[in-house]
Amino acid sequence: MGETLLLVGLQWGDEGKGKIIDTLAERFEVVIRFQGGANAGHTVQIGDEKFVLHLVPTGILHPDALCIIGNGVVVDPQALVEEIGALRKRGVKVAENLAVSDRAHVVLPHHKVLDRVADSSRGKDRLGTTGQGIGPCYADKAARCGIRFAELMDPGLFRERLEALLGTYNRILQAVYDTEPLDCDAVYTEYQAYAKELRPFVRDTVPLVHEALAGGKNILLEGAQGSLLDLDFGTYPFVTSSEVIGGAAPGSGIPPARIDRVVGLAKCYCTRVGAGPFPTEQDNEVGRTIRQTIQEHGGREYGATTGRQRRCGWLDGVALRYAARLGGVSAVAVSVLDVLSAFERIKVCTAYRVDGQVLRTFPANARVLQKAEPIYEELEGWQCDISGATGWGDLPAQARDYVRFMEELAGARVEFVSVGPERKQVIERKPDD
Ligand code: IMP
Repeated sequence: MGETLLLVGLQWGDEGKGKIIDTLAERFEVVIRFQGGANAGHTVQIGDEKFVLHLVPTGILHPDALCIIGNGVVVDPQALVEEIGALRKRGVKVAENLAVSDRAHVVLPHHKVLDRVADSSRGKDRLGTTGQGIGPCYADKAARCGIRFAELMDPGLFRERLEALLGTYNRILQAVYDTEPLDCDAVYTEYQAYAKELRPFVRDTVPLVHEALAGGKNILLEGAQGSLLDLDFGTYPFVTSSEVIGGAAPGSGIPPARIDRVVGLAKCYCTRVGAGPFPTEQDNEVGRTIRQTIQEHGGREYGATTGRQRRCGWLDGVALRYAARLGGVSAVAVSVLDVLSAFERIKVCTAYRVDGQVLRTFPANARVLQKAEPIYEELEGWQCDISGATGWGDLPAQARDYVRFMEELAGARVEFVSVGPERKQVIERKPDD
């Protein structure tokens, strides 16, 4: 009997999923992306080579894994064609080992234009989206006027649907946003060229997934973004437009009851790109030290998709507990522990103070979270280089205590600790560690 494992980020994304997925992918025969789109950027460092994957599952770096872009993903065909080309150029096999669901929605040019103009028209309340057309594409999906890969592959039907869509959206672009309309012929021709390139990959992935289940294959469900960006449970409206936490089953075709285990991934501090509440943010020397230390250790606190500087802060234990509970995580992977080596004392937020009241749960109202003052506990730092640690016992006692504190907050055992950007810099904790 194979195992189906779901990996989900427990913060605002950028928890280092690319690296952990890559470590785990070796054990999985099938790797599936199930939500989000090219807003994601999963970074994997192999020796001197760095790969940033936006749409293609990280499993592609393991040539024997079957990688599926599930129906829950919104796929920008231009980005996918470019990504496949770039991977092939670097010698990565992308052939029958990649499948794109014919039920996945297609990101169209009006989605990208709308994403940018609608977000900038929000002024000071803008969300700071990645501009990849994610929200508008999911909006069309929910409004039942989106176009799926099955239709993209059918030129007559695609033309019909595109004309209807642009008929509406061109009027909105002009009248509401004072923006140039899109030329239907040009979009049609451009997208049929992508369709030709992507045709070999597009298929009904439901039988593929169910054959894998029936064949006892190990399946990895690769989450993108993070739980605090979840459309329902995140810091709404400063969220992405997909179900980060519960999207695995509907976004892949795996029955919910067939997900065996959930591993939550958390950085040992917090980062966020884009706007929205972030109670433990350290827009000061602490934040600068985090950013500088990670750079010295070969990483970067800059968005992998947009290149924007990430906001940095202490670990938010209230948010971690909330996300771990919602995900039902049975294990946690902690990343970038090496970065905290820079600090003599480390703070962790364990509650908020809002209008004089202590709050231990994560509020729904973004304004409440915006004014929440973190209540911190302080832990002792270890202030030594841990990037060479290969076993749990190699970590200084203070670092182990910090990780244990994280697992208390998450209510699940920490099974992986990453101590640097390289593939091999992951400590796998043994059962008796
Ligand atoms: P969107 O997903 O492009 O609509 O952006 C909505 C919010 O989610 C913005 O704050 C983005 O910065 C954030 N976001 C989207 N994808 C990622 C990601 O992969 N990592 C981190 N933040 C993300």
